[in-house]
Amino acid sequence: MLMNRVETVLVTSPANRAFQRCVEAPMLRRLGGRTPGARALEIGCGSGYGTKLIIDQFGAATVDAVDLDPAMVTRARRRLRRYADQVRVVQGSADDLQAALGAGDAAYDAVFDFGIIHHITNWRDAVAEVARVLRPGGRFFFLEVTAAALARPSYRRLLDHPTEDRFTARQFLAELTDPGLDPADNWRTYVGSDYLAGVAQKP
Ligand SMILES: C[S@@+](CC[C@H](N)C(=O)[O-])C[C@H]1O[C@@H](n2cnc3c(N)ncnc32)[C@H](O)[C@@H]1O
Repeated sequence: MLMNRVETVLVTSPANRAFQRCVEAPMLRRLGGRTPGARALEIGCGSGYGTKLIIDQFGAATVDAVDLDPAMVTRARRRLRRYADQVRVVQGSADDLQAALGAGDAAYDAVFDFGIIHHITNWRDAVAEVARVLRPGGRFFFLEVTAAALARPSYRRLLDHPTEDRFTARQFLAELTDPGLDPADNWRTYVGSDYLAGVAQKP
């Protein structure tokens, strides 16, 4: 499900970008380390700010970035112009990365999800795709919005998200283990139980 106008303004605001840069990305680095030289994938890249962090803060060599919204793909391509030799931005869905990117099994060293899986109705399919495209030993870095946050009146009134079958932190972590991803203790919730950050490894 695409972001509505209110969410687009909030997500792309300077305050949110500062939070991502100074709080969320460092939190993920503490939980799972950097990814120097990695071939990385970002699902739901939005306007491309996370892709920039994956290169600048995590040290990835290349990033394939995919988003469902053609308008976001255009914005991301514009933002990432100077990374043209490292970044490929395509329109497509995170629940079918073969169709979106031609991504085969074990194609990536690291996959990043900066708050997009809760936008997907069939979110378990996206988790399974992440596990499929990670190589053994590869890592899945995730920041997610839980059912607790999505149930808040502010979220329900102002933003558009699927309403059925959303996940708690525990349910999301349990779903990771089904296709073989192991978050171990490398996760935490923040802002109460509204948000989940973590890193899971494919054995
Ligand atoms: C909350 S935004 C986060 C965007 C970006 N990660 C960021 O941090 O700025 C969620 C993004 O997920 C995208 N999205 C929603 N469903 C998707 C899907 N099935 N596959 C890929 N992207 C999707 C939306 O278009 C939107 O850009």
